[in-house]
This record gives sequence, C-alpha cells and structure tokens, in this order.
Amino acid sequence: MNHFISLENFDLELIKNLIDDAISFKRKKAYPNLSNRYISNLFFENSTRTKLSFEMAEKKTGMEIIYFDAETSSIKKGESLYDTVKTLHSIGVECFVIRHAQDKFYESLINKIDVPIINAGDGCGDHPTQSLLDLVTIYEEFGTFKNLNVVIAGDVVHSRVAHSDAKILKRLGSNITFATPEFWRDSSMTMGTYTSLDTAISNADVVMLLRNQNERHSKQYDEKNFLELYGLTKERADRMKPKAIIMHPAPINRNVEIDEDLIEASQSRIFTQMTNGVFARIAVLNYVFNS
Ligand code: CP
Ligand code: CP
Repeated sequence: MNHFISLENFDLELIKNLIDDAISFKRKKAYPNLSNRYISNLFFENSTRTKLSFEMAEKKTGMEIIYFDAETSSIKKGESLYDTVKTLHSIGVECFVIRHAQDKFYESLINKIDVPIINAGDGCGDHPTQSLLDLVTIYEEFGTFKNLNVVIAGDVVHSRVAHSDAKILKRLGSNITFATPEFWRDSSMTMGTYTSLDTAISNADVVMLLRNQNERHSKQYDEKNFLELYGLTKERADRMKPKAIIMHPAPINRNVEIDEDLIEASQSRIFTQMTNGVFARIAVLNYVFNS
C-alpha cells in the first residue's frame, strides 16, 4: 500500500517521476481517471490551499469526496483520530488526506488500518505535498536542483515546510542556507549553513520565505520590525540575481515576512506554487491509487 507521509524515505527516481507527472498533468490537462474511488479530507488544523487544492485534484480525477468537518464531527465528543479513520474506512472511504497539529499523527494509523494516508501537514513535522509542489515550481524554473542556492528564511524551527523542503532539496543536490532569527534556528537541521538574509540574498537562486508560525509558539518578538530585521524588503529584493525567484508557501503575513509589493512582483512564484499544488496533488493521488 502506498502512503504519502514524508519524502524522506522516497528514492530520488520516484520523486523525479512525481515531478514529471505533475508537469505533464499541468501541460496536457489530461488526468488519471479515479472515478468511483472514495476519499475523505480530514483537516484538524485550518487550511485554504492544501485542503481546497486537494479537493480540486480529487474533482479533476473524478473522485467521490466524502466530506468531513472536524467541528461538527464526533471528534467533538472525544472520538479519537484512529476511531474516526476506522469508522470512515468501514463505511467505504479508500484514502485519507489528513492535516493534524500533532507531530507524526500518522503513527497511530499506519500498519493499524489498511488504508492509504496522505500527510497534509503534521505539527512542526512534514508537509510533503507542499514540498512536491515546491519542487515542481523550482524544476519548471531551472530544470535542475543541482547546485542551486536555496535560501530558506524565517521561522525554520516551527515550519514543516522548511523541514520537508530542506531535506529533499539537499538530497537533490541544492545548497541550503537558513536565514533565520537566532531564536528560530533549529539545531536538528544540519543540512544547511546559517547566516542572515542580508548576507545570503545576492547569491540565492531561490529565496524561500516561511510564515511566522505564531500559533505554534508563545515567543514574544518584534513583529513590527520583523520585515526590516529579517524579511524580504524591496532593498533586499533589489540585490537578488535577475533570474532568482521568490517563494512562500502562504498564507502570508503581509509586510512581516515580505514587503507586500513583492508578492506579485515578476520574480515571485507564490501564486504559481498554488497553481502547481493542484497538479502535484493529482500526481500524489495517482501514485497512491495506481502504482
Ligand atoms: N501552504 C499551505 O499549506 O497553506 P494552507 O495552510 O492554506 O493549506
Ligand atoms: N501552511 C502550512 O501548512 O505550513 P506551515 O503552517 O508550516 O506554514
């Protein structure tokens, strides 16, 4: 059975195939047929992009969606995640897309229930479908990952996007630099070097900004001056290489992580990332059901 939990254990050939599949679905507008397959999206944390681009991917492939709302479900009566998934599987759901605040929530499910699980974000752990769409976006731009200088800037320690992306980009041959405030460094992330955005910006091919994950910590910090101190200001963007790109997984705190005038600037690929999210997720559904 194919789960999609983390890219960490995927071999690079498979990841390259998933990227090629996503680009092919995007170009050809032809999608695998998954009609009469039943799927449920279980989001226990808020989401706009991941939840709705999965839903778009499911509709484009003809899937039947069994809708679930955590707020009105029996989770509110104390039912566990395991019992919820077991229940929905019992009534015929064949695959689950799950976002949960608990790191590694999937450990309570895999090997216990015979059903594919797609990780749509676990706590501060991983966000593998965001990684895949980020890889698609970078590959479309540069045609390679080798020797690209990728600067990951901001709240590294709480970001599942940073954790997922840094690990896979390093394996694919990119050079990783973390440009993060001292208080948001992650000592477990040893695949990159640490410096300031000011130092890293002029050599970057990809400037990947992160959301400040304020709901995951109680740290008091100077949000008003964050942009000037650590974020992508227009002055810093002016020092980027002409062909370098700006990425952000979103949602964005405008004028905190990035000057809002840069969000739709010519070097920004932020909305391209969102577009690519649909095709990356079609590739994931195809992998789960057809390989
Ligand atoms: N990038 C991302 O995961 O966005 P959402 O939280 O809106 O799903
Ligand atoms: N959007 C998302 O799921 O990732 P972060 O919450 O880590 O930004």
